[in-house]
Amino acid sequence: MNIIVTDSPEQAFSKAADMIACVVLHNPHPVLGLATGRTMERIYRLLVKQYETSALDFATTTSFNLDEYVGLAPTDPNSYRHYMQEHLFAHVNIPTSQIHVPNGIAADLDLECDRYEATIEKAGGIGLQLLGIGETGHIGFNEPPSAFNSRTRVVHLDDITRRQNSGMFGNDPTCVPAHALTMGVGTILEARKLLLVAVGTGKAAIVDKALNGPLNENVSATAIRLHPDCTVILDDAAASIWKNNSSNTINSMS
Ligand code: GLP
Repeated sequence: MNIIVTDSPEQAFSKAADMIACVVLHNPHPVLGLATGRTMERIYRLLVKQYETSALDFATTTSFNLDEYVGLAPTDPNSYRHYMQEHLFAHVNIPTSQIHVPNGIAADLDLECDRYEATIEKAGGIGLQLLGIGETGHIGFNEPPSAFNSRTRVVHLDDITRRQNSGMFGNDPTCVPAHALTMGVGTILEARKLLLVAVGTGKAAIVDKALNGPLNENVSATAIRLHPDCTVILDDAAASIWKNNSSNTINSMS
């Protein structure tokens, strides 16, 4: 695993955006796994900037988002499909037909999960999967416990996650949907490359658990250590506890 620690969140976002841009630029048909959350907003802003000011072209890119809330239509302002439109898709030239987000209002949610897995496979698998980390240690919405071989499925959201994500729902955790569709840990581990990004002191404890703690289905982010090509980008604050506890070599960026 390649762990990069930057002096500032801005440097972490910029390094992450460059890694994504590199995959888009150097593959004839890039397949990106995308994530949501506040961390990703800044990365998407930089990708939009690169699209506007350089030769970054998304015309042949296919994307698969990690997750979606159950019960929210793609047009719902709190849906992840809408988030993606607002932060990335509306501003770059990725064709709508190449965008995939699980459908949280599908009549048969289990069938939707199977369809999503099949669509990923048909696209040739995910080249680069972008990941954030939640307070419960989730990647995607793989709440504790999530088997390391789990696939795309319906999950019940942890109360901690509903509280963490309540900002978009009037700060009322009970307004956050109780269920979501998420790629499984096993689905995520099949991506050819993983890129996890975390910034800020709020993430320091869970980052330490993910990188230093025992491999554990109660902290699904520990699974990334099983992946042969995984990069973790942290700012100094998010790395602070892990650095004190770790004997690992750190690649520092200034
Ligand atoms: C949501 C998403 C996760 C993401 C997490 C972190 O829960 N389902 O994929 O990692 O948010 O969000 P933030 O970047 O806002 O801390």
